[in-house]
Formats: sequence, structure tokens, C-alpha cells
Amino acid sequence: MPQRHVVTTLGNLPPGSARAFTVATRKLAFFNVDGRVFAIDDVCPHDGAPLSEGTLDGTTIICPWHAAEFDVTSGQVLCPPAVENVRSYPVFVNGDSIEVEL
Ligand code: FES
Repeated sequence: MPQRHVVTTLGNLPPGSARAFTVATRKLAFFNVDGRVFAIDDVCPHDGAPLSEGTLDGTTIICPWHAAEFDVTSGQVLCPPAVENVRSYPVFVNGDSIEVEL
């Protein structure tokens, strides 16, 4: 059964930023897009790069190693060399608190 986990606060993830957090042993990448927060696995399926260290352009994250692109709202791959989607997770903002459901 899915469980919600408190991850951090909005103050630690300002708009336009990306940051990795480990939640229940899983390394996740969080993104704040104009106040909306999204979470996906922090491992690029192409060669394992940390997507949280990529370049965030709107709702697109560009992989820091070989520039594959993913939609942070869904985890869908948008541009090769990656060909697989990454998993996305439901995020809840509760006051100042960011929570994720795993
Ligand atoms: S590791 Fe992400 S595109 Fe290669």
C-alpha cells in the first residue's frame, strides 16, 4: 500500500530548482516548476546519470551526461539517447511541507 513520506520544505526547493532526496532508500529527483513540485527517479535509464543535476527548462529536465530529455510531470522520455521513461511519483504540498507517495 502506498505511503506518504515527508521529504523537505518548499524553502529547500525554490521555484526553478532541482534537488535529490533519498526517500525510503530510493533516490528521487524533485523539481519545483513555478511552485508546482514533481518527483521522478533520479537515475537516467540511458547510463545512470543523476537527473537532479541536469538542466531544468520549464517542465523538461535535460540529462547532465548525454542530454536526453524527460518530462518531469510524467517521467516520459522526450528525446534520445534515452529510450525508456523514468518512474514518476505523486507529490503533495502540505503547507510548507513537500510529501511524496511511494
Ligand atoms: S546518462 Fe542520461 S542521456 Fe546518457
